[in-house]
Amino acid sequence: MNRKPLPRATELAHELIRQRVESGDTVADLTVGNGHDTLFLSKLVGEDGEVVGFDIQQAAIDATAHRLGNAGNVKLHLACHSRFSEFVSTPVKAVMANLGYLPSADKAIITRGESSVTAIGAAAELLTPGGLITIVVYTGHEGGKEEAETVEEFTSTLDQSKFSVIRYGFTNQANHPPYLIAVEKKLEKR
Ligand SMILES: C[S@@+](CC[C@H](N)C(=O)[O-])C[C@H]1O[C@@H](n2cnc3c(N)ncnc32)[C@H](O)[C@@H]1O
Repeated sequence: MNRKPLPRATELAHELIRQRVESGDTVADLTVGNGHDTLFLSKLVGEDGEVVGFDIQQAAIDATAHRLGNAGNVKLHLACHSRFSEFVSTPVKAVMANLGYLPSADKAIITRGESSVTAIGAAAELLTPGGLITIVVYTGHEGGKEEAETVEEFTSTLDQSKFSVIRYGFTNQANHPPYLIAVEKKLEKR
């Protein structure tokens, strides 16, 4: 039997995104960080697609640009993701948010609940039917629990006639493993 262990939150986020995103789609990364998710999205949408990425740290923008090499389908913005609607006006198929801090940088620079939900709300507005937002949430650092509460409060009250929201995470592991919230825009009823 070819059985894999249960996926981590970040792995499941990639799996769910992979199932939906196609070549030519427009997608966004709300927190580019070291560029792992941005590169993943860039490969999925291909030359005809577009990835819009945000981060508030120049080091993250630089690391992501370096990882992307000559990929020409990514627009990186040194900007808070709460400004999402200033930079994105076309429908998006998928949006990834990996919250928390940039590993190997200043751990006091973290995503915050208020700006995160502004960004997630703006992204939800532009999500195509069948499109998905993945949010990887961390609670182990200072400020993480407060942000998680704000994000949970916002996502769990999204209109259920328009969105399906799930939460996935390990419940028996030490050291506050991250968990995933996924928001799917329902297909329009005919
Ligand atoms: C966990 S890291 C992201 C990891 C990244 N997705 C990857 O694949 O490497 C979180 C990032 O969020 C960024 N960040 C914090 N607050 C932000 C904000 N208001 N808007 C955009 N990015 C923010 C941090 O600078 C950090 O780079």
